[in-house]
Amino acid sequence: MKKKYTKQGVIEKARQILNGNLHIGFSRWKNAPYRYIAPANREYTYQWLWDTAFHAIVLSHFDIGWAKAEIKNFLLGQHDNGFLPHVVYWKKRFPLAPWVYFESKLSFWPRTTAITQPPLLPIAVEEIYKKDPDVQFLKDVLPKLANHHMWLLENRDPDRDYLISIISPNESGMDELPVFQYVMGYAGNNPSKLQYIFRKADILNHRYSYRDKTILEKDYFNVEEVLFNCVFIESARSIARLYTMLKKAKEAAWFTRVANRSEKALLTKMWDKKDQIFYSLYKKGELPARVKTVASLIPLFLDGISKKQADALVTKHLLNPEEFWTTYPVPSVSKDESYYDPGNAPLYRGKLIWRGPTWINTNWFIIRGLQKHGYSDLATELIKKTLIMIEQSGFREYYNPETGEGYSHHDFGWSTLIVDLL
Ligand code: GLC
Repeated sequence: MKKKYTKQGVIEKARQILNGNLHIGFSRWKNAPYRYIAPANREYTYQWLWDTAFHAIVLSHFDIGWAKAEIKNFLLGQHDNGFLPHVVYWKKRFPLAPWVYFESKLSFWPRTTAITQPPLLPIAVEEIYKKDPDVQFLKDVLPKLANHHMWLLENRDPDRDYLISIISPNESGMDELPVFQYVMGYAGNNPSKLQYIFRKADILNHRYSYRDKTILEKDYFNVEEVLFNCVFIESARSIARLYTMLKKAKEAAWFTRVANRSEKALLTKMWDKKDQIFYSLYKKGELPARVKTVASLIPLFLDGISKKQADALVTKHLLNPEEFWTTYPVPSVSKDESYYDPGNAPLYRGKLIWRGPTWINTNWFIIRGLQKHGYSDLATELIKKTLIMIEQSGFREYYNPETGEGYSHHDFGWSTLIVDLL
């Protein structure tokens, strides 16, 4: 079923989707009402960190009050030490999926996971603030976002190089991206082995009670991941600019310094001279995880990427039909990687994701990056292709990069990001 969308049309559809995924109730844990948008209306019915940021960016176009409320609701789940979890379980629903227990500290009823996700909320808050300079909102949320960034620096940067380590594949937001089986030393495709490989870090982390220091010291999963760090850097810049709005020059300068140091480290250490692309680094030895995925292109989103690096990403990789320039780009895994699977991972009954399909949220980063660095025609072309995919297949969770067929969840929250791109 094809549908042609205008800007107003996508806004109406987004409103309908986000309303349809809304959950309202009372949390006995916080002794307060909760109200949040879940990514989808089945299975993913909790509140996720970076999904919340994407939803808020979309909402900032037509319901600024709701956008602010989404962020504030998520921040109710922040831990006392500043840590922001990747999922908050507002509702009591029993039983939770088994993975919930491994991603959390030992508890009969975990309230949040013990892992995090790309720290995107500051970017969403800046988008909101640009449209509605509400100083009180900023005063409420900014210190909380800053605390999470400081938590990451304090607890997830054991080698003090300003690159943040993730301790589970799911912290990247790209759960079963082949990069993570590569770092676990498994190049095969045996379905049950893969299920285990992708959960192994969670199982061990749970066993070590999510003590970051111990986990990173043991080095079984210690990944300075490209996309996560790009988001960390640009979010630090958002925090800095927002502190400037609050006339807090010292805090602003501090976050700018962090962003610059982290960016410099990323652009030098993660850049592979031979392949002219970025790779995540793993283990204490900072070995390059040499698998070309969409994450390898996300440094386009960085303010400080050099012209040379940006050009190489665009001309050698993004526009290469053997790699990322499929009919419906940008695939999550480069076509010339042995792991690439454009379908809904049939071998794994759709249980593994980020194995090749195109996702709207990673397209959003790439499009923003292209616009930043003077590739506006290409950005427009990619927006067009993204819109066609949505018109043909609806607001799905992800899409076949060759046929545009939509997969998994329908009316998926962040696929409404097209609102922000048109
Ligand atoms: C999947 C995605 C993750 C997302 C979550 C909810 O786990 O990999 O990035 O946050 O679904 O949409």
